Amino acid sequence: MANGVPRGPQARGAGKHDSADTEAAPREPLPQIPQARELIYVTRGSAGRVLSLARLQQLGWNLRRAPDSRSVLRILQRDPRQPHAALLDLREGFTHHDLAELGSALSANNVGWVACVEAAQLDQEPVRRLIRDYCYDYVTLPCPEALLNTIVGHAHGMATLACEHGETTSEAGFDGMIGESAAMRVLCRTLRKAALTEAPVFIAGETGTGKELAANAVHRHSRRHAHPFVAINCGAIPHSLVQSELFGYERGAFTGAQQRKLGRIEMANGGTLFLDEIGDLPLESQASLLRFLQQGSIERLGGHEQIPIDVRIISATHHDLEAAVIDGRFRADLFHRLCVLRLQQPPLRDRGVDIDRLAEHALQRYSQESQRSLKGFSPCARHALHSHPWPGNVRELINRVRQAVVMAEGRLITAADLHIDSAGAAPPPTLDEIRDAATKDAIERALQRNRGRLVDAARELAVSRVTLYRLMQRHGLRTGDDTGAPDTSSAA
Ligand SMILES: Nc1ncnc2c1ncn2[C@@H]1O[C@H](COP(=O)(O)OP(=O)(O)OP(=O)(O)O)[C@@H](O)[C@H]1O
Ligand SMILES: [Mg+2]
Repeated sequence: MANGVPRGPQARGAGKHDSADTEAAPREPLPQIPQARELIYVTRGSAGRVLSLARLQQLGWNLRRAPDSRSVLRILQRDPRQPHAALLDLREGFTHHDLAELGSALSANNVGWVACVEAAQLDQEPVRRLIRDYCYDYVTLPCPEALLNTIVGHAHGMATLACEHGETTSEAGFDGMIGESAAMRVLCRTLRKAALTEAPVFIAGETGTGKELAANAVHRHSRRHAHPFVAINCGAIPHSLVQSELFGYERGAFTGAQQRKLGRIEMANGGTLFLDEIGDLPLESQASLLRFLQQGSIERLGGHEQIPIDVRIISATHHDLEAAVIDGRFRADLFHRLCVLRLQQPPLRDRGVDIDRLAEHALQRYSQESQRSLKGFSPCARHALHSHPWPGNVRELINRVRQAVVMAEGRLITAADLHIDSAGAAPPPTLDEIRDAATKDAIERALQRNRGRLVDAARELAVSRVTLYRLMQRHGLRTGDDTGAPDTSSAA
């Protein structure tokens, strides 16, 4: 729970720009906290630029490190109702694109975020915006540990209140979108917020993850819900027809134009225009679309009149649009106009419990439709559902269940009915295997961050050098390090 220490600018660490670390600040006696609380530390700092946080651990914080939003979501996935405090160390390693991507993890409301910055970074607009929009508080480093402990304590307290109010549970699903996993809760929460604004939304995600469903949900919950939702699949229209589909034409504009036809943009007037597969829009049409977005009006092909249009734009693609911008296949200025709120649909294989929920939902729907009374999924089918990589995501899952409902001969759907070969799939890992893999991974990353220096990696992992050395041997990691391999014989 937050503990009432005065806050405000005077409470923050003074901004010294050297190897800023909590260790650099004067030590004060720190109060013990009663029970372990979860603290996530997001950093991409190089060796020497990573906060040690060892004293916070001594105070009972259960520290987990994460380099990106995906790792944060994985931590939150374990228990969406568990409150967390999180330190986001922005001093090094984050590009503007990384900051935008962090948005989904930052929106999780069972986390109280505290940004760690250098004083000079507060002049940068993306950093200011991120702190303003997502963080409970920020500190400039170096910062006394007692203060850091207090601030993360406050942040954790606020996250606890949010969890106690059941806000996380009510976030499961949104307007027909099934999703209880941490990743989907975060997405649904962001969609709810996006629906309340007029800002252009860009939805990225693999095929079949629900981009169109999400776009529809945003429209239905927006102030434009009584007006049209018009979708256009930019990838499905021949290049020669894209302009007339988007902007419409006047009678006689070209051979065969026997009467005036409204374009999709005009049809969406007052409502929402969903530009699906925007990455496939030809460059010529990108220029016209940009002009429309800048001017707020269109001219039909063959027309001379500027028609004012009021639409909210949602765009989506399963391509990597940032890469298309770099390759010159997509205009950077258009990209920045479209990509104001960026949402990422998580792939189905990362959604854990949602796989069961979606499969059950589809089973119920299609068994009713085909009047079959199936009881559910056999254990082998459940295993198969979780071992399949789902390249076609939710669409593929629905189709497989639909087909299985027709094909199943018993009362339970089997892996064979789903046409998933679960025989070759590895059995689920044991707890020991999961723990071993996580330990090995953490050591490898710590060594990478610290350029192989055992001493620094051990300090970061809050273990002794001897323990680290032994763990490396146990996990088959190279220990031929010249920078601190300990003499284990004396420590045995
Ligand atoms: N969270 C969800 N809950 C229920 N149904 C879902 C969910 N996500 C997707 N679906 C269903 O999966 C199918 C595919 O969804 P959608 O068309 O929105 O995906 P998409 O990302 O736009 O795919 P594509 O990239 O191929 O266009 C639809 O039938 C949709 O109703
Ligand atoms: Mg789609």
